[in-house]
Amino acid sequence: MSEKGYIDEFIENYKRSLDLPDQVKIFDTTLRDGEQTPGVSFTPDQKLRIARQLNELRVDVIEAGFPIVSEGEKSSVERISGEGLESEICALARTSEEDVEAAVDCGVDSVHVFIATSDIHLEKKLKLTREEVLKSAVNAVETAKDHGVIVEFSAEDATRTNLAYLKEVYEAVEDAGADRINIPDTVGVTIPVSMKNLVREIKNVVEIPISVHCHNDFGLATSNSVASVESGAEQIHVAVNGLGERAGNASLEEVVMSLRSLYGIKPRIVTEGLSKISNLLETITGINVPPNKAIVGDNAFAHEAGIHVHGVLESPGTYEVLSPELVGHHRRLTLGKHAGKKSVKNQLVELEIDASEEQIDRITSRLKELGDKGKTITDADFRAVAESIIGTLPQEEEAVKVEEATVVTGSTVTPTSSVRLSVKGDDRTGSATGVGPVDAVINALRSLMSETAELRLKEYHLDAITGGSDALADVTVKLEDDDNNLYIAKGIREDVVLASVDAMVNGINRYFAKQEKEKKRS
Ligand code: KIV
Ligand code: ZN
Repeated sequence: MSEKGYIDEFIENYKRSLDLPDQVKIFDTTLRDGEQTPGVSFTPDQKLRIARQLNELRVDVIEAGFPIVSEGEKSSVERISGEGLESEICALARTSEEDVEAAVDCGVDSVHVFIATSDIHLEKKLKLTREEVLKSAVNAVETAKDHGVIVEFSAEDATRTNLAYLKEVYEAVEDAGADRINIPDTVGVTIPVSMKNLVREIKNVVEIPISVHCHNDFGLATSNSVASVESGAEQIHVAVNGLGERAGNASLEEVVMSLRSLYGIKPRIVTEGLSKISNLLETITGINVPPNKAIVGDNAFAHEAGIHVHGVLESPGTYEVLSPELVGHHRRLTLGKHAGKKSVKNQLVELEIDASEEQIDRITSRLKELGDKGKTITDADFRAVAESIIGTLPQEEEAVKVEEATVVTGSTVTPTSSVRLSVKGDDRTGSATGVGPVDAVINALRSLMSETAELRLKEYHLDAITGGSDALADVTVKLEDDDNNLYIAKGIREDVVLASVDAMVNGINRYFAKQEKEKKRS
C-alpha cells in the first residue's frame, strides 16, 4: 500500500504543474484596511501595540495607516515608523502629491499608492478618463520614488478593470519606478481560477513582484489569495482575523497556514504567535472570532463526537491536520450528546476526579441527556455533573428513586407539585402546594416519605454554574436527623425544580444508607 493518501498524492502532482514562487511575503493591512472594519477605530497606543506584535510575528510589511486622513493617524504612523521595527513599515496614499508627501513625511520605508482603474469607479466616483488615471498613477509613483522610498502600486478594483487597460497601467507604473504592483479584488468578486489567470496575465507584462489583495464578500478571500501564488504571486495582503472593509480581507492566519501546510511554501511568520495576535485583535476591536473560524477559532481544535475524540486520543493526526501548538492554540475535547465513555474518562483524568465504571456510565448518560436538550457542556458543568454523580450512592444502594416530578406555577395559581417515587420498590404518588415551585416540590416529596419525618431541611443553597439562562442549577441541601447527623447532598440539573428534587432524594438516600449500616452492625 502507498504511504500517501489520495489528497497528498493529488497535491504533489498538482504542485508539479504550478509556477510556485520559493517564498511569499506577507503584507499585513490590519492597521489600515482592518481599521476600516465598520465600528473599529484604534487608539495610537493600540496601533503601536498591534504593530509590535505583528513585528514579533515577523510579517514582511506592516501597512501602518493612511496618514492623509487625520493628524492623529499621521502621528500614529510616525510613531510606528520610529520604533525601529524589523518589518517594512508602509503607509497608504492616493495618487495626489499631498497624500504621497503626507505618507513620506511619516518616515515610512514604503508608500502604497493607489487609484481605481475600473470603468465604474472612473465614471461614477473619480469622474476621470482612463488617460487621466494612468497619468495620475505614473506621477504619484514618480513623486514617491523621488523621495527614495519603496513604492507599491495598487489598481483599485483591478478585478473589474478592462484587462488591456489594466496591463497598460501596470506597465506604465513599472516604467515609472514602482517596486511592486498589487492586484486588489476590491469588492471580492473573483474566483480562484480567475485570480490565478489574472496574475499570469499581469506576470506576462511586468517583471516586478506581484501582490494580491482579496476581499471576502463571497467568503473566497483566502482561496483567491492562495490561488494567486499558483501562477507566481510573490506577496499577499492579509489582516488578522480577516478584518477589513465589509466582509473583510483575507485572514492572516488562514493564508499563512494554507501556504505552509497545503502548498509547502513557508512564509517567515512565527506561526506560534497566530492565536495570540488573534486574541489581541479580538479584545481590542470587540469583534468576536466565530468559534468555528479556521486556525484561531475556539473550536478549531475542539473535538466532540465520541468517534473523533477516540481517534484523536489514539493519534491526533486522525482528525487534526495541524497541531494546535504550531499556531499557539490548544486541543479541547468537548462533551455533549456525542460524548463517549472514553472522552468522559479522559476529562475525569484531566480534572483529577476518580470515578467508578458505573459512575462513568451515569455521567456519560447525564451528559447525553443535557446535550439532547441543546445544552453545551462547559468544563464547569462537567465538573459539577461528575461531582454530583460521584457524591451519590451506587444505583443499587439507592432506596428512593424519582420517577416523575411536575410543578404548575404562575402569577395566578398557587404553585402545586405532584411527585411519583419508587421507595424500596414501592410506587408512591403525592402532591402538595408551596410558596414557590421549589417549596411545592419539596413538600410533595416529603408528604410521601413518612419514614424520614425526623429529617429537617437545615440549609438549601442554589447556584447557577455558568452564566446565561440555560446555566445548570446546582442545588445543595443539608438535612439533619434527631441525633444531629448531617446529610449533605447535591443535585445538578438544567431545571432548578428537578435539581432540588435530586438533591433532596440524594440526601434521603444517604440517611437510609446510614440506617441500613447501623441495622447491620447491631
Ligand atoms: O480593497 C482595496 O482595493 C484597497 C486598496 C486601497 C488597495 O484596500
Ligand atoms: Zn481593501
